[in-house]
Amino acid sequence: MTDGDADRLPTGVRSIDRLLGGGLETDSVTELYGEGGSGKTLLCLEVALRVAREGRWVLYVDTEGVSADRLRAMAGDDLDRLLKRFLISTPKDLVEQSRAVATACALTRDGKRPVGLLVIDSATFYYRLSLSGDDEDDAREALAIEVADLVATSLAMGVPALLTNQVWRNVSAGTLEPLGGSFLNHTAKTIVRLDRLSGARRRAVLVKHRSRPEGAAEFRITPTGLDGGPG
Ligand code: GTP
Ligand code: MG
Repeated sequence: MTDGDADRLPTGVRSIDRLLGGGLETDSVTELYGEGGSGKTLLCLEVALRVAREGRWVLYVDTEGVSADRLRAMAGDDLDRLLKRFLISTPKDLVEQSRAVATACALTRDGKRPVGLLVIDSATFYYRLSLSGDDEDDAREALAIEVADLVATSLAMGVPALLTNQVWRNVSAGTLEPLGGSFLNHTAKTIVRLDRLSGARRRAVLVKHRSRPEGAAEFRITPTGLDGGPG
């Protein structure tokens, strides 16, 4: 598929949409990774609110506890109406997360609701907690099953899947690396790293894409969301 035919879901953050050639690919998984406070959750919420405004459903698996105050600041008086288009699940451990992702994928595939977006934020919060423990292999397998389900569902239904991933510090290389093992990072067709710059400034770096060159875009965190500058 060339860039011209690929369907995209705009994120609404103009600099990021330019970087991505119009927005998220609608038939694959996009991974956002970056350190705490880099804007992963805010970007998920920006896209999700946009999809809800268009009257489509958002299936949102939230392991972090989305701030209601933050959502209200972004959605304004429209929040109650928009939340009617959200199905939010809040798993409390790895097993609940696996169930929540399987349910979200099944609801997307059954086609009863027009689903516009699948979000898993964060895909690796509970996975990280299990690292170096007895259940590390189980956690890796569970994550692989979830991501495979997301890949198949997105491709079959044309619904973009957006997942966030946390980082670990590679001390010898001096870099921040995504968690989740090579399976996750091979399976996501688009990978974007978010970096903190000074103050409210942030940078999105396109690390992997099927049809776009690597590159970077800046945006700012504002009281009402993310601002990617003029179009
Ligand atoms: P982790 O989930 O911790 O890995 O971080 P993240 O990458 O998801 O960051 P998130 O999108 O939650 O937040 C990015 C930045 O937005 C934070 O560092 C804060 O500076 C800012 N922020 C988050 N919530 C609020 C809020 O309610 N009000 C304001 N003004 N800023 C906020
Ligand atoms: Mg977050």
